[in-house]
Amino acid sequence: MGAGEFLDLTDPATFVRHEPRDYWQEIRSQHPIYWHDSPGDLPGFWVVTRFSDIQTAYRNAKFLSSARGTVLDVLLHGNDSASGKMLAVTDRPRHQQLRNLMLRAFSPKVLGPVVERVEQRTRSLVASVVDVGTFDFAAEVAEHIPMTTICDLLSIPDGDRAELLRWNKLALSADSEEVDDLDSLIARNDIVSYFMDLAKHRRENPGDDVITMIASTQVDGELLSDEEVALNCYSLILGGDESSRMSAIGGVKALAENPGQWAALRAGVASLDDAVEEVLRWVTPAMHFARTALIDLEIAGQKIRAGDIVTLWNTSANDDETVFPDPRTFDLARKSSKHLTFGHGPHFCVGAFLGRAELRALLSSLAESVRSIELDGNPSRIYSNFLFGYSSLPVNFR
Ligand code: HEM
Repeated sequence: MGAGEFLDLTDPATFVRHEPRDYWQEIRSQHPIYWHDSPGDLPGFWVVTRFSDIQTAYRNAKFLSSARGTVLDVLLHGNDSASGKMLAVTDRPRHQQLRNLMLRAFSPKVLGPVVERVEQRTRSLVASVVDVGTFDFAAEVAEHIPMTTICDLLSIPDGDRAELLRWNKLALSADSEEVDDLDSLIARNDIVSYFMDLAKHRRENPGDDVITMIASTQVDGELLSDEEVALNCYSLILGGDESSRMSAIGGVKALAENPGQWAALRAGVASLDDAVEEVLRWVTPAMHFARTALIDLEIAGQKIRAGDIVTLWNTSANDDETVFPDPRTFDLARKSSKHLTFGHGPHFCVGAFLGRAELRALLSSLAESVRSIELDGNPSRIYSNFLFGYSSLPVNFR
């Protein structure tokens, strides 16, 4: 990239053709915040790239709103259809009330048994691929952890899980270059209708489970509608499936490419907790989140007008050399837990504990039963300007 040349951040192809981290390094030093024009009639937007500016922006939820949407592509084309109903796309005071409710789904009482199952499942999945020759880690291992975990968290009946997984795959198909928007839209509607039916059923037949809790607890003096219950259940899949999968796949890829770090983890030179944080920093599955300015304000001395879209590039923040020295070195012993992989401030990821537990279970199962991890083919990159990661990873575990 020549100096002064900007990449088109609205185009998913940009992130496959270029190494975004090279771009961010140059941009952080030369244009830490800049205005990005969009193609056609789409609105332009601000691009914020430095760690401290992004952290400050995340904290400023009062004037940098999530309600219209938090993903660039959605904001360029209108408003998020779940606006004001789904946790991630609400503002205070409703956000705080909904969040208090949703956090009950992540209490130690609920999470204890869920995490235990994650550990068992991960151990047996890893054991099943040791010494089998080349296999696709994405399909054989990573795919089976997060969705099953979310189904456990929500007590989805066993008989419904295959259908839910099938819809979820279709719903995500828009991430490939062979976009079939209609199929994925139908699948998303199927998931929301499924959760609406389940919400109705659990209201009539209450149990000791998370959906019953969400459906039967009053928020600001009223129960959530069936649609709100459904959207917030779905938000756990939207928030927790791909992001966790991408961390696991990206983590194994980094271990295969850095055998010295793999040896350090196995030898206990790097602790499991530090390794989890470094993998999260290194991969940064959610490349950006976005906000809309509610008033005229300033970020890093730059005037932002009310109504402007502001994009916060976590990928860039997590490589900011003023916070993470030598950021392009994968160093499992690094103290990297300040990373912004889970966001920051009032919308900080409610699933962070679970996301970390899934990765910890993976790294500990690998350290326990795998001596060497080798790449054996080319991984395929996800086609997206929001999600970073790989949809396949051919490897060999010995
Ligand atoms: C919020 C990333 C795992 C559910 C967020 C945010 C980020 C993030 C960056 C902040 C969004 C914003 O500020 O607008 C990740 C990553 C994960 C992960 C990288 C895995 C490594 C999970 C899991 C769940 C989950 C396992 C649920 C089971 C959510 C929800 C929100 C959220 C519901 C919205 C919180 C709010 O707006 O108050 N996540 N997440 N995430 N995440 Fe996660």
